[in-house]
Amino acid sequence: MPLQRGGVRRRSRPPSLSVSVVTFFVFSCPSWLTLPVKSGRHFLQIPGPTNVPDRVLRAIAQPTIDHRGPDFAALAREAIDRLKHVFKTTADVVIYPSSGTGAWEAALVNTLSPGDRVLMFETGHFAALWRDMAVRLGLDVDFVPGDWRHGVSPAIVAEKLADDRSHRIVAIAVVHNETSTGATSRIGAIRAAMDEAKHPALLLVDTISSLASIDYRHDEWQVDVTVAGSQKGLMLPPGLGFNAVSAKALAAASRARLPRAYWDWQPMIRDNAAGFFPYTPATNLLYGLREALRTLEDEGLPNVFARHDRFAEATRRAVRAWGLEILCVDPREYSSSLTAVVMPAGHDADAFRTIALERFDMSLGTGLGRLKGKVFRIGHLGDFNELMLAGTLSGVEMALAAAGAPFTRGGITAALDFLAQPTHDLHSVSGR
Ligand SMILES: Cc1ncc(COP(=O)(O)O)c(C=O)c1O
Repeated sequence: MPLQRGGVRRRSRPPSLSVSVVTFFVFSCPSWLTLPVKSGRHFLQIPGPTNVPDRVLRAIAQPTIDHRGPDFAALAREAIDRLKHVFKTTADVVIYPSSGTGAWEAALVNTLSPGDRVLMFETGHFAALWRDMAVRLGLDVDFVPGDWRHGVSPAIVAEKLADDRSHRIVAIAVVHNETSTGATSRIGAIRAAMDEAKHPALLLVDTISSLASIDYRHDEWQVDVTVAGSQKGLMLPPGLGFNAVSAKALAAASRARLPRAYWDWQPMIRDNAAGFFPYTPATNLLYGLREALRTLEDEGLPNVFARHDRFAEATRRAVRAWGLEILCVDPREYSSSLTAVVMPAGHDADAFRTIALERFDMSLGTGLGRLKGKVFRIGHLGDFNELMLAGTLSGVEMALAAAGAPFTRGGITAALDFLAQPTHDLHSVSGR
């Protein structure tokens, strides 16, 4: 019995009603009311945001510094210089504190004027979103229809440009790796079609889910603006958007009349030269960016691409062995970042994904736009290795069985047999 001050004994009061109710619930709570404890690592196998390596997370955890001080300038300069290697460019690369959508907008508003004609291609959900943005900005978009199973046809680019004798098309905008479908567009071949037609249009390319995963060459392919984001091949959290900008794009920016303020390249490029930004940058993400770029250089970009190619091929072998269909139909356009898998008829891809998440703690990509419920997407990009892929594919195989979907077992074995081959026997399929 508790003692009151002064040593006088006092009878304890019975607990109040609210205390009794809480106590009752805590001790008699049925298991379905408790939060499930998930042990081990979550498998984040969506096609971005991707797994962030521990060394990058540690870099981001450093104390934030004065973004107008000398230490910051050294950080920014190193990050920008290293970033150029990944874009394969010597041109300016602008870094925004933004998502990829912001970097899309920056590419359009810096180079174009109201009413300018832009040639775009319906390769999938993201191409459609970029088109919507262009229309809302007042551009005149010629949107070439597509079936969401192919990349851009260089032959159609050639036809469109041959028809455009008066050079009304001011820019061609292409999504390099359509994240909603797992189909890539062959930028080198599109460039060749533009050169063949001797057409002066600007070439704008979205590499949001290909940069640092699939071979990409800003300078060699004479791309005018390359759009990218932090959260996929660069292995960072979301929050940085990029524009690599050719000299021709910079010249276009001096004439372009779409309104721009936050996205204006000029103050960025001017201040970046000294290692600064015209407004507060995402300091801690820049720590992460520098570390991620060092990580990529340590591995070597050719090895990074070859690794992604291998994992993509292993995944496709698993899908075929399961008797399922790969959404991308042209092997020249297979994505090395992700594989979109068609769910067997009568089975909902999102119900299957829910089973994968709840039973095996693995997030797979949902079907986007018109593919909702029809496909699921396996992300195999970024900080990823053989055993993570084996775990991912095992999770898919188990979840297919748990979902009662018709499939043939053995996809895992097909993938593992491929992964076990010595890597020097494999031919890289990069260069797209
Ligand atoms: C190819 C592609 N373009 C654009 C975007 C839009 O980027 P964000 O969601 O970072 O704005 C994404 C996002 O996944 C994408 O995959």
